[in-house]
Amino acid sequence: MGTYHAGPTRCRLFSSGSRRTFVRGAVPRAHSDYEDGEAFPASTSMAEQYDRTAAAHYSSYRPPLHQVILRKALFNKEPFDDGVDVGCGTGYSAVALADHCLRVYGVEPSQSMLDRAIPHARITYLKGTGAHIPLPDHSVDVVTFAGSLFYAKSADLVGELKRICRSQAVTVAYDFEILLDDVVRLCGVGAKETDMPYDYAINFSDDPTFREILVGREQVSLELTAAELAHVILSESRYHEAFMERYGLSDLFAVVKNDLEARGRSHTVRANIFYSKYETTTDA
Ligand SMILES: C[S@@+](CC[C@H](N)C(=O)[O-])C[C@H]1O[C@@H](n2cnc3c(N)ncnc32)[C@H](O)[C@@H]1O
Repeated sequence: MGTYHAGPTRCRLFSSGSRRTFVRGAVPRAHSDYEDGEAFPASTSMAEQYDRTAAAHYSSYRPPLHQVILRKALFNKEPFDDGVDVGCGTGYSAVALADHCLRVYGVEPSQSMLDRAIPHARITYLKGTGAHIPLPDHSVDVVTFAGSLFYAKSADLVGELKRICRSQAVTVAYDFEILLDDVVRLCGVGAKETDMPYDYAINFSDDPTFREILVGREQVSLELTAAELAHVILSESRYHEAFMERYGLSDLFAVVKNDLEARGRSHTVRANIFYSKYETTTDA
C-alpha cells in the first residue's frame, strides 16, 4: 500500500498503464480521526511516533482499493466461513475481507493500529504477527495479506498458515502503490530516498506450499479530495519526512491539505495494484 511508516519505506518497482479502472468512494472510518498537532510523551521512540502518526492517518482515510482488489481475487465465490487478515493495520483490509466471510479475524502487531481499528460486528481484532497467529489449528478458509506480506513473510509464517488453514483454504496477497511523486513535487517537496527497497509484488509463487491460482497487476485511477490525499501522502514515511524537513514540526496535515486545496477541490492520482491468489497446503 506504500503507506506504512514504521517498516522500511518503499520504492517504485512496477509501472503499467495497460488496464485502467476508475475508483471513487470511501470506506468506513475508524473511531478516531487524525488529531492535528498530536503531542507524544518524551519517552516515545521515533519508530513508535511514526507508528502512531501512520495509524492516525490510516484511521482518517484509506483509499477504497482493498474492496476493488478482493473482488477481483475472490470473484464468484460463496462467502467463506472464517477468514483472517494478517497485518490488518487499522482494519480497512479486515473490513474488505468481511464482504467475503461470515467471520473475520484481524491480526496485527502494532497496538497503535489496533487502538484505532474500525469496529465491525463480524470482525475480531487480535494482537499477533504472521509468525504467531493467535488462532486454533485448521480454523480458517481464507487468509489475506494487504500490504503486510513484505513485513511478515518468513518460514515461521508459512508454518503458521499450514497450521491454521482448513483443507482447500485460499490465501490472497495484495498491495497497491499510489503514484504520489508528481503531486508531492507540485507541493515543492521531493520524496526522501530510501535505502530499503520495498516489493509491492511480493507473493508466495516461490513456495511449493502454495498452488498458484492467479497473479494480477493493473493500474487504476483514484479521485481524492485534498484532505484524503493529504492523509495518503503523510502516512508514507518518505513523504512525511520530506515535509517535516521543509516545514518542521508544524501542523503538517493542514500545510499539505491547504496547499492541495489551493490547487483544486479534487485530485486524480494513479495507483498500481498487485494481487496473487493461492490454494494453501495444510497440515491436515
Ligand atoms: C502497509 S500496512 C497495511 C495495513 C492494512 N493491511 C491496510 O491495508 O490498511 C502493513 C501492516 O503490517 C503490519 N506488520 C508489520 N510486521 C508484521 C508482521 N511480522 N506480521 C504481521 N503484520 C505485520 C504493520 O503493523 C502494519 O499494520
